[in-house]
Amino acid sequence: MGVSAATGGGPHSLAVAPPAEVVWHDLECGSYSADMALWRELAQSADPQRGSEPILDVGAGTGRVTLDLARRGHSVTALDIRPELLAVLKARAGGLAVEAVCADARALELPERGYALVLMPMQTLQLLGGAGERGAFFARARAHMRPGALLACAIVTDLEPFDCGAGDLGPSPETVLVAGRRYISRATRVRVRTRSIAIERERLIIAAEGTPEGPQGGPAAPSGAAALPEHNVVELDRVSVARLAREGSRAGLTPAGTRETPATEEHVGSAVVMFRA
Ligand SMILES: C[S@@+](CC[C@H](N)C(=O)[O-])C[C@H]1O[C@@H](n2cnc3c(N)ncnc32)[C@H](O)[C@@H]1O
Repeated sequence: MGVSAATGGGPHSLAVAPPAEVVWHDLECGSYSADMALWRELAQSADPQRGSEPILDVGAGTGRVTLDLARRGHSVTALDIRPELLAVLKARAGGLAVEAVCADARALELPERGYALVLMPMQTLQLLGGAGERGAFFARARAHMRPGALLACAIVTDLEPFDCGAGDLGPSPETVLVAGRRYISRATRVRVRTRSIAIERERLIIAAEGTPEGPQGGPAAPSGAAALPEHNVVELDRVSVARLAREGSRAGLTPAGTRETPATEEHVGSAVVMFRA
């Protein structure tokens, strides 16, 4: 989700186009890897025997983190609110030790109550809709953690505002070719407001022969008319580490420090706020 620069080629060259929402998710989130070393480290220390201590990946999407940890032998529950993303995650998991659960993180109710590690990568905590909703998530996460378990949530605190409409350059577009269609996503504006950060993108699909299509993969426009890119906006709640520490404490969690994931040329760095049950 971070505002990023170009990725060529693409993660998945398929003969049949998956739902456009899946391609956009893979394109805009799937190439991010600067946080992976930290998730691997946390998983290894929570589950040193690999496979004996369950791990919960909250907001797992199409499985960027879940699948990496499962390939290393960890047993992962992937939770997401969007069934179309989880369907792809499940298909990609093959025979790995992955359970996919479609549910809202704020109302988590799983049979497993002994997670050793709960991960929330890539600013998902900032998508929950404010302090009350985060408090609900913290309480539900706490209820699913074994004593001493770790909760780790990645957040962005500093995003540099820009506006391509006002002449700013902005990052290069991200692009992928899937099943004969070129998907192009371009971050066009970041607005930093008092309570939220809005990330705006333009999304465009171009058929192999060069005919623009609508953002969901259907016909773009009546013949002769130019295709319009879809305007996509993601709103992140603005939060500070200190504020999250207070919110987590109120839910019965013990603040356990902060780690950093490095900024790269393409992505801003994140703070990873941690708690113990
Ligand atoms: C930025 S993506 C991160 C995807 C993946 N974790 C990664 O790092 O590549 C955020 C994910 O959180 C999911 N999500 C947002 N709100 C949620 C909620 N209330 N409960 C569960 N999942 C949620 C979205 O559907 C999306 O897949």
